[in-house]
Amino acid sequence: MQRALEPELMDDPEQALVYARADFEEENQGFVSRFLESYPDLKDVHVLDLGCGPADIPIRLARALPECRVTGVDGSAPMIALGREAVRAAGLTDRITLRCERFQDMVLAEKADAVISNSLLHHVPNALQFWYALRQLAKPGAVVLVMDLLRPGSPEEAQALVDRYAAAEPAILRRDFYNSLLAAFTDDEVAAQLTEMNLSRLLIDVPDDRHWVVGGRLP
Ligand SMILES: C[S@@+](CC[C@H](N)C(=O)[O-])C[C@H]1O[C@@H](n2cnc3c(N)ncnc32)[C@H](O)[C@@H]1O
Repeated sequence: MQRALEPELMDDPEQALVYARADFEEENQGFVSRFLESYPDLKDVHVLDLGCGPADIPIRLARALPECRVTGVDGSAPMIALGREAVRAAGLTDRITLRCERFQDMVLAEKADAVISNSLLHHVPNALQFWYALRQLAKPGAVVLVMDLLRPGSPEEAQALVDRYAAAEPAILRRDFYNSLLAAFTDDEVAAQLTEMNLSRLLIDVPDDRHWVVGGRLP
């Protein structure tokens, strides 16, 4: 099945609110646990989260690593507003900074020691822009953890995944999940992107029926 693009930013206020209220505990905590297990020595580090959405992952990470600082970037104003509210409620404004801009336009005064990103790449028309920015915004040797959806083989398979994992979710979320599966990359496509960007020392894993994960250290 060919990739079918979906809108880059999630900047419809209702869409952002439904996403922020959804329960991504298992996926987001799994992502943070994988980061902590992969890089157990990281402590006083600056972590950059590309496409941070409502900041659930920055908050989980800041709680787990009490000395780290997190910069989250998202191009959607409603997502960043929800993220700022959540960061304030969590009492983490001193360690989490959220910026409303597209990652393609981002310049960091202090490059990151670690770059993370969950569920962003499928929104991006040109994936190479993502890997380029990731490299530009990170220090040499920085650690990386990127996870996203895996494009299934057909619309029917995509619908079956929505029915299996999101049957009880609101209609907007089910629609977005379906469209996101159609917009996602396959693990072979991601491997080709890494090779093209000279990032093939990063490793790709397919942990389940709907995700791929890329991790490792930058050159
Ligand atoms: C599916 S959400 C994932 C949010 C968060 N990472 C999570 O795991 O909960 C994808 C987010 O990426 C943002 N996004 C898409 N393209 C972007 C870009 N070029 N620059 C910054 N953010 C972008 C969207 O606005 C949206 O909030």
